[in-house]
Amino acid sequence: MKKSIKLSAGLAVSLMLAGAPAAAADLQAGQVAYEKFACASCHGADAKTSVMPSYPILAGQHEDYLLHALRAYKRGASGATTTNARNNAVMTAMVQQLSDTDMRNIAAWLSSLPSDLAVRR
Ligand code: HEC
Repeated sequence: MKKSIKLSAGLAVSLMLAGAPAAAADLQAGQVAYEKFACASCHGADAKTSVMPSYPILAGQHEDYLLHALRAYKRGASGATTTNARNNAVMTAMVQQLSDTDMRNIAAWLSSLPSDLAVRR
């Protein structure tokens, strides 16, 4: 009996941990980095009014998708040729300057922006 109580408490804790990101992303730092690294010059200050129609809308996109995309460009930049790596001349150059923390913060901030692209708010 005692054992099963312990077990369910352990399960509850692991479920809580599974739902929480490794470290809370800093939305404000994400916005600062987006401006500092001149992302707005192509994707627009609101991250959805890009300078070219072919440049993707970032505002409101899923956070994990954005983070995955940024990491994939970085992987491509390091020469990886797996399906998990993206090779794009522009973005490959852009992600060089970003740390993993920058990417996490930027992804979180972009995802929080109002947009009907992916996450309805
Ligand atoms: C010179 C223009 C330019 C700049 C500056 C730029 N981007 Fe991009 N970005 C692009 C283009 C073009 C693509 C599409 C590339 C492709 O086809 O893979 C893209 C793609 C992306 C994607 C993938 C979106 C998706 O839906 O898969 C993300 C995320 C992104 N950019 C974030 C950023 C961030 C963050 C910065 C600043 C550090 C930045 N971009 C700076 C032009 C730019």
